[in-house]
Amino acid sequence: MQPVISIKNLSKTYASGFQALKSVDLDIRPGEIFALLGPNGAGKTTLINIVCGIVNASTGTVTIDGHDHIRDYRAARALIGLVPQELHTDAFETVWATTSLSRGLFGKPRSPAYIEKVLKELSLFDKKDSQIITLSGGMKRRVLIAKALSHEPRILFLDEPTAGVDVELRKDMWDVVRALRAAGVTIILTTHYIEEAEQMADRVGVINNGELILVEEKAELMRKLGRKQLTLQLQGRIERVPEKLALYRLELSPEGNALTYTYDTRSERTGITTLLRDLGEAGIRFSDLQTKQSSLEEIFVSLVKEGA
Ligand SMILES: Nc1ncnc2c1ncn2[C@@H]1O[C@H](COP(=O)(O)OP(=O)(O)OP(=O)(O)O)[C@@H](O)[C@H]1O
Ligand SMILES: [Mg+2]
Repeated sequence: MQPVISIKNLSKTYASGFQALKSVDLDIRPGEIFALLGPNGAGKTTLINIVCGIVNASTGTVTIDGHDHIRDYRAARALIGLVPQELHTDAFETVWATTSLSRGLFGKPRSPAYIEKVLKELSLFDKKDSQIITLSGGMKRRVLIAKALSHEPRILFLDEPTAGVDVELRKDMWDVVRALRAAGVTIILTTHYIEEAEQMADRVGVINNGELILVEEKAELMRKLGRKQLTLQLQGRIERVPEKLALYRLELSPEGNALTYTYDTRSERTGITTLLRDLGEAGIRFSDLQTKQSSLEEIFVSLVKEGA
């Protein structure tokens, strides 16, 4: 499948001499939700702003549905909606005016019906005549989304769309994003809420110190890097793990009443069957057991630590 965005050898050194991006290559597939994860200052906003033509790259090329993002700026930009990280909107305009105006800026014919639909989906319709300055932070962020959608873009960038948004509204936004994807819109989002990537993304990219250190299907990433832990609640307490069980590298809880076994989900044998047998032979009985899969958050933290 042809990528809808193709980024090649993209680097950025700011005027200060700081290199924010180091030779990034990335293809975005049509219709996917791609989550870009990375710590503060990793280069996420720089990457998005370059693709959207707001910041100039130092080296490299970006094509958007075949259009070079510089040479063919208007065609490329018309395909994109951007919800920027920073909240800056025309404070004294109304929600309706700012959203309609934004559509006009892209040369699209007026469509009050479409603007109404977008505002309703974002639960902003009852605020349509309010000045933006009178809205709460979460509402302002939704206005930015409405603006970004005003010209019916096929690709939507969301730079930290849910920063500072309460839990309920965050879930609403996820619904909006999912509905957009269902309508065929390609979505690239950055987030500090790993849970968000875990819930939403088809693929995940991890960026650290300006380098894209990993791009992977989310499910594959969790399967590959995810470790599983089996915890056994013991019937009694033990002082230490018997010597004979050393090879399992079990962890004994401080109270001496639980053993944790960490295994790799990739390996053919998890070792659980032999572990349970060997425990039985050592006379250790358990009353309960649970397994736990590591979260995307744990995977992310360990990746970024390794890359630091
Ligand atoms: N205009 C600029 N001039 C100089 N350095 C800049 C400029 N804009 C960003 N930087 C630097 O580039 C690096 C990447 O910044 P960027 O905003 O892309 O990070 P980010 O991953 O979006 O971070 P956050 O998660 O905090 O939003 C940072 O070290 C930042 O200080
Ligand atoms: Mg940012």
